[in-house]
Amino acid sequence: MIPMVNLKAQYAEIKDEIESGLAETIENCSFILGPNVQAFEKETAEYLGVKHAIAVASGTDALHLALIAEGIGAGDEVITTAFTFIATAEAIKYVGAIPVFVDIDPKTFNISPEAIEKAITPKTKAVMPVHLFGQPADMTAIKQLCDQYSLKLIEDCCQSFGASIDGKQTGSIGHTAGFSFFPSKNLGAFGDGGLVVTNSDETAKKLKMLHNHGSDVRYYHDVIGYNSRLDEMQAVILRAKLKRIDQYNQGRRHVGRLYSELMADLPLTTPFEDGLGEHVYHQYTLLCERRDEVMKALQDKQIGCAVYYPVPLHRQNVFKQEYANVSLPVTEFVAANCMSLPICPFLEDDSIKEIVSVIRDVLTAA
Ligand SMILES: Cc1ncc(COP(=O)(O)O)c(C=O)c1O
Repeated sequence: MIPMVNLKAQYAEIKDEIESGLAETIENCSFILGPNVQAFEKETAEYLGVKHAIAVASGTDALHLALIAEGIGAGDEVITTAFTFIATAEAIKYVGAIPVFVDIDPKTFNISPEAIEKAITPKTKAVMPVHLFGQPADMTAIKQLCDQYSLKLIEDCCQSFGASIDGKQTGSIGHTAGFSFFPSKNLGAFGDGGLVVTNSDETAKKLKMLHNHGSDVRYYHDVIGYNSRLDEMQAVILRAKLKRIDQYNQGRRHVGRLYSELMADLPLTTPFEDGLGEHVYHQYTLLCERRDEVMKALQDKQIGCAVYYPVPLHRQNVFKQEYANVSLPVTEFVAANCMSLPICPFLEDDSIKEIVSVIRDVLTAA
């Protein structure tokens, strides 16, 4: 059996450090906004090269609070991609804004800068690119558009912790950015968690209040806020993993590149690295016309595989009426043909070879 992500192998390696950290936290009884959360915010800000990092309860909250802090509200249009996890658009809806879905680049599956520019209207207030599957979106072009049209740039970095462009981390380029620490992410907690980052002192001040009941000084409340704090226990776990994040991402890159090398002659499209940035392979997602057959063969051998994402957001039940007139041909083609293979830093070369041989048997059978 080969799972999509081998979290057990990762835990085995860092078990002692995590367990002693958790035991210490339990002894200290400092469970909310404790020393590990504070240290984690400092360490992530340093790692990401940003001035402020505010740890929150999930990636969805991170995006939601980022939009509020950036002043995005009712009736504002936010240009984003439909080829993403629902939370990207949910966050936009939470603030009463309108997600404007535009098409993606056929090679990287990331939002197309040309499509963004065509969708800008007087109501556009922000652009929210997603660094999908760990590959940075074309931030040079997107930032230039945002500067030119005075739009807020809010990065969805929920799949891209550690990915970079020209030495700049994803999350450090826009006005604000949200990260997720969902367990299977490149930097994953043992539950939910998230982070919002910004270089603006003013935005950081708002975010600190928003994530803690609208309060700066205890029991004094200036705005309606939320209860969205990273748990101290999760901070212990994330700090242990943060120390090793470069090694983990390097391991993922090795897996991704080996898959691509071994499948280079097969009738499928392996992930494209556009060379604009450093991909961290949150997912290894390929295109294959015979996806169903390949997936069945893998499942029969108890090898993990999944479709991220089978239904683009404009075609989801929740949105399909509102977006009935929207057609995104590249997004729709990719959703109909993509599939993802197991990937994590602990996937061994022999397992990769085994997975590829199952795929090869299907695609080369007479
Ligand atoms: C692209 C994207 N955006 C937002 C989220 C939401 O993150 P979370 O599950 O931590 O709320 C996720 C993760 O699941 C994601 O992959």
